[in-house]
Amino acid sequence: MPLFNVYPLYDVTPVSGKGVYVYDDKGAEYLDLYGGHAVISIGHAHPKYVDAVSRQVSTLGFYSNAIKNPLQKELASELERLSGCKDYELFLCNSGAEANENALKLASFKTGKSRVVAFKNGFHGRTSAAVAATDNPNIIAPINAQQQVTILDLNDVEGVKAELEKGDVCAVIVEFIQGVGGLDMATADFFERVDALCKANNTMFIADEVQSGYGRSGKFFAFQHYNVTPDVISIAKGMGNGFPIGGILIHPDIEAKFGLLGTTFGGNHLACAAGLSVLHVIEEQNLIDNVNVMSEYFIKIAKTIPQIKEIKGRGLMLGLEFDFEVGDLRKKLIYENHIFTGGASNKKLLRILPPLTVRKEHINMFFEALIGVLAEFENKAVEA
Ligand SMILES: Cc1ncc(COP(=O)(O)O)c(C=O)c1O
Repeated sequence: MPLFNVYPLYDVTPVSGKGVYVYDDKGAEYLDLYGGHAVISIGHAHPKYVDAVSRQVSTLGFYSNAIKNPLQKELASELERLSGCKDYELFLCNSGAEANENALKLASFKTGKSRVVAFKNGFHGRTSAAVAATDNPNIIAPINAQQQVTILDLNDVEGVKAELEKGDVCAVIVEFIQGVGGLDMATADFFERVDALCKANNTMFIADEVQSGYGRSGKFFAFQHYNVTPDVISIAKGMGNGFPIGGILIHPDIEAKFGLLGTTFGGNHLACAAGLSVLHVIEEQNLIDNVNVMSEYFIKIAKTIPQIKEIKGRGLMLGLEFDFEVGDLRKKLIYENHIFTGGASNKKLLRILPPLTVRKEHINMFFEALIGVLAEFENKAVEA
């Protein structure tokens, strides 16, 4: 049976990984500055993670949400301690889209309203309400288009005010650093005023931290760079270091009720063991401090390269903007220099999303390769 062909693939077949490196089927080593799309937080095959997941699968990998699972409580309390999100409650699911779907559903249950405000270039996943709140008509099927969503420009605070005052908006959903869209960030004033507008209009403020959470921004959550209190925080990618796990942190003002949300696989024993191990390693290895040190180092070097027109993002969720499309540059980095990087819907942006364990030597390797490829491009332009 052929695979349903939805992914354009690079011609590389990684079969193993260690730290910030992956190895292909021919034994070649690749530096992973893409982290499998911001998923690899503590590094590939971290020994503590391998041990925790292996031990759990050999004892009890799964049982349903009909029984007590102390690992869920342990994960919730470690997440509360490390994130500083006091008194929030945790609902566990399996992916980023599912986290946002549940966040939007909860906002609608809580407020009794159904319209959503989201932002231009935002990405929230591919399920029903989440994809409708995503600003990409190519991935919204007619069945999703029935959702009521208003897409506004980032920083359009007057637009948000006008929409919320109509009284039918259940949620404003935002990425504090846009991922797929290209690492744009709204101003602090915008985020803080939107937070206040939500509180004044009985609208839930949803922080989509699926990509920016778990330390990637240089704080546990990207919204913590601002003075805001989201009602719901969605999490996924870095949470399981590759194990499929997601969740939402829910403000205590939103009351739980039996049956309100649910899932078969969410919060299973194996997922919790993976999630707990990630949190332990983030703390033990001071990875959030490392994010800040490496980010500063990376940006300092990037600023010395004249072809880089703008440096976007924060922490280890960074983008380098050029005045040309970066498709060929990424290919040269992968095939000739063995370095994975990411792209964005902004075709001129190279995305850098390494494991949070990345070190200066890896950043130096990247810039050495980048400078070489840029020089090659310039020589070709001169010859032409
Ligand atoms: C900000 C954000 N939200 C949601 C999602 C969807 O997550 P998933 O692919 O796990 O459904 C993504 C995935 O890239 C994302 O970047």
